[in-house]
Amino acid sequence: MKICVVGKGGREHALIRALGESPCDPEIFCFPGSDAIHELEGAGKVDAHDLESLVTWMSEHDIDLCVAGEESYLVTGSGLANRCAEMGIPCWGPPFAAAQMEASKEFAKEFMQRHEIPTGDATGCADLEEAQAAIAGKYPTVLKFDGLAAGKGVAVCPDQETADQFLQEVMVERRFGEGRLLVEECLEGPEISIFAAVSGPEYLILTPARDYKRIGEGDEGPNTGGMGAVASRQLASPELMKQIEDEIVAPTVAGLEKDGLNYKGFLYFGLMLTADGPKIIEYNCRFGDPECQAVMPLISGDLAGFCLEGAKGNLNPELISFNEGWSVCCILASAGYPESSRADDLISGLDLVQDARIYHAGTKKASGQWVTNGGRVLAIVAHGDDREDAVEKAHAQAAQVDFPGSQRRADIGRLHF
Ligand code: AMP
Ligand code: GLY
Repeated sequence: MKICVVGKGGREHALIRALGESPCDPEIFCFPGSDAIHELEGAGKVDAHDLESLVTWMSEHDIDLCVAGEESYLVTGSGLANRCAEMGIPCWGPPFAAAQMEASKEFAKEFMQRHEIPTGDATGCADLEEAQAAIAGKYPTVLKFDGLAAGKGVAVCPDQETADQFLQEVMVERRFGEGRLLVEECLEGPEISIFAAVSGPEYLILTPARDYKRIGEGDEGPNTGGMGAVASRQLASPELMKQIEDEIVAPTVAGLEKDGLNYKGFLYFGLMLTADGPKIIEYNCRFGDPECQAVMPLISGDLAGFCLEGAKGNLNPELISFNEGWSVCCILASAGYPESSRADDLISGLDLVQDARIYHAGTKKASGQWVTNGGRVLAIVAHGDDREDAVEKAHAQAAQVDFPGSQRRADIGRLHF
C-alpha cells in the first residue's frame, strides 16, 4: 500500500511511525514533510508545492490512501478530500464543507445548537457594537475570532479592560483581517480531548487524552500549541466516557450525517467537564498535536488498513486495538516560544534516550547534526503501566535532551484533573 501523509510536525511524525508499523508494511510519502520524517522514518519526498500539484503527484504515483495530518489543505481551494475524490484517491480527512467544523467557529456553534449538543451559549457578531451588546457587561466572557488566527483568535476575558483590548485589536484594527466574532459563555472545569475515527454514520472512540496548553507549570502563562499530553483509557471513568459518547460523540456523528457532510477521518472534540456535564468547546478535523504523539503508541494493529477502509466508507474497529496503561508526552520548545521563535540551536542527547519515543516537530539537519527550527521542537513519549511510571520515565528521558534555551514543563502528566 502507498500512503501519502499531509503535514510536517510532531503529530505527522507519530502518525507516520504508527502507519509504518502496520502489517502490510506500507510505502509512505509525506508532503511537505520534514528532515526527520524523511530521514528517520524513511518517508519519501513529494515533488509538489501546492494542493493541485500534490493531487497530481498522488495520482501519477498511484497513491492508495491520502491521510490528512494537518487541517490546512482540507479548506484550501476546493479542499484536499474533494480533489482526492475527483481523482479517485481514498482520503482519510473530511471534505471542504465538513471541515468548516474546525475552520469556522460560528459554523461549528450553529451545528452544535441545531443538533442540541451541549456547549456554551454564544452570539455571532459582525462589529464592535454588536460584540459589546452581546457581552452586555457580563464577565468573564470568551471572545473568539471566526477565522484563521494562528491559534491567537481566542481570548478568555476576566473583565471589561481585557475584552476592550481584544475587541480593539480584532474588530477595529483587524489584526487577523475581516471576519466575524463569537461572544461565548465562559465555561469552567477541566478539559479533556476526545478523538473519534468517523466514517459516515459510523465511529470509533479512541484513547482519550489531556493536553497542557499553557507555557508555564501549574497552567500559568500564555497559551501554546501544547506543551505536553497524557493519554490513557483510564483518564476518564467508563461512566464519563459513556456520557460523552451519548451526549456528544453520537449526536455529532448523527448530525454530520443528517446535514449530508459525509465526514471521514479523525474528529477531535475539545471538551470542558463542567458542573452541568461535559460541554464542547471546539471541534478539530484532525488529530490533536501533541495528543497524537501520546495516543499513537497506545494503538496496535493495522492502522493503515483501518484508515484505508474508513476512507472508503467501511469503518472496521477490529483492525486496531488499544493498549492499556499510560502514555506521557513531554514537549521541548525553543527559546522564546510562544512569543517568539528561535532556530539553529544545536540539540544534544538524542542518542541517550532509551525506552521512550522521540518525535521531531521543529528540527532540521544542518551539517549532519540536528538543530532546532523554532516553535515546539521535540516530543519525548514514554509508556507506563500506571500514570506515575509513565510520568517518571517520560521526564527522565526528556531531561537527557537539551539545546540552548529549551523549555519543558516538569509537571506534564503530574498535574491531573
Ligand atoms: P480554542 O481555540 O477554541 O481551543 O480555545 C482555546 C482555549 O480557550 C481552550 O482550550 C480553553 O482553555 C479556552 N476556552 C475556549 N472556549 C472557552 C469557553 N467557552 N469557556 C472557557 N474557556 C474557553
Ligand atoms: N492540542 C490542541 C490541538 O491540537 O489543537
